[in-house]
Amino acid sequence: MSNGVRLGSELPAWPQYGDEERQALIRALEQGQWWRIGGGEVDAFEAEFAAAHGSEHALAVTNGTHALELALEVLGVGAGSEVIVPAFTFISSSQAAQRLGAVAVPVDVDPDTYCIDPSAVEAAIGPKTRAIMPVHMAGQMCDMDALGKLSADSGVPLIQDAAHAHGARWRGKRVGELGSVAAFSFQNGKLMTAGEGGAVLFPDAEMYEKGFVRHSCGRPRTDRGYFHRTSGSNFRLNEFSASVLRAQLARLDDQITTREQRWPVLSRLLAEIPGVVPQSRDDRGDRNPHYMAMFRVPGITEERRAKVVDVLIERGVPAFVAFRAVYRTDAFWEVAAPDLTVDELARRCPHSEALTRDCVWLHHRVLLGSEEQMHEVAAVVADVLADA
Ligand SMILES: Cc1ncc(COP(=O)(O)O)c(C=O)c1O
Repeated sequence: MSNGVRLGSELPAWPQYGDEERQALIRALEQGQWWRIGGGEVDAFEAEFAAAHGSEHALAVTNGTHALELALEVLGVGAGSEVIVPAFTFISSSQAAQRLGAVAVPVDVDPDTYCIDPSAVEAAIGPKTRAIMPVHMAGQMCDMDALGKLSADSGVPLIQDAAHAHGARWRGKRVGELGSVAAFSFQNGKLMTAGEGGAVLFPDAEMYEKGFVRHSCGRPRTDRGYFHRTSGSNFRLNEFSASVLRAQLARLDDQITTREQRWPVLSRLLAEIPGVVPQSRDDRGDRNPHYMAMFRVPGITEERRAKVVDVLIERGVPAFVAFRAVYRTDAFWEVAAPDLTVDELARRCPHSEALTRDCVWLHHRVLLGSEEQMHEVAAVVADVLADA
């Protein structure tokens, strides 16, 4: 498969940076405070990130996994709780709950949008359910109408895993305007990045304060007497990362605009390839930042898909196999797993099973390429699949 169609020109690199990030790092360096206490960069980033997402309370943290852990903790999730998560997601969604001793209960996703299925959530809500965690897969918002109603009817709070959803909107509302806690990641591949980093949006000041104290070893902001008020850990973001994230946030809107223009082109071209089905869009998610360009090849085997991904990479297309259903990992069964077998979960989650085998994703830097490159990428995908 090595002599076929290749990408004619390099796609944009990721991460992107320029003088804004350089100057930001020097500003943080010369400030003389490199941690957030007494520094200005984390505070400023929190205010800017919150405002950009329609919230008043953003707490910056070390990474997206910690953002989820902290969000769950602030909502009182711990041993004896159950947290409903999509089966098809990155492992942090379930791992964060399990680290707190809560049982992660995986439910199936929609086969077209790959987002958590509200009817599966409804069926899984029980007396121990303490949180429902929708993951806005690749920037496509979950059905926040149905989930909001389920949450209101059951009294179980939502925690949006918004690791893929910087700048996303649901029927005009930004992530922070939907009334629930939301957790973001700024890991190297994410839509804005400082290599690592995360943030939690809280709907009110009281929750933010709880989060702040817990993310700083249980210590209030002005404490000088080592009065640790609650249990906690050190999830504090540093000033360098925050300075870079401020510059990255300033790039986000333009990059989303480009990706929003490119995805309709690429997805139409992908849909024309025999056997390829791109991720569908639910238009109520009326701003999709497109963290990944995802598609399925129904019926492909895992082995063949792995080969296809290798050849796509060889030919210049940054491709990846998609997530494995969380219950199909050793990690999932190590702590706080449900009292079910893999086979029972697989029977309940047929779409996550299929996605585990047949889903491929392309890095979002593909969607920062030119319109012509969308044609080139689709031509490479078509050629590789035909060849395989
Ligand atoms: C859906 C989802 N949730 C959470 C995370 C965890 O974020 P981090 O890598 O910053 O810990 C990731 C990815 O990395 C993710 O894809």
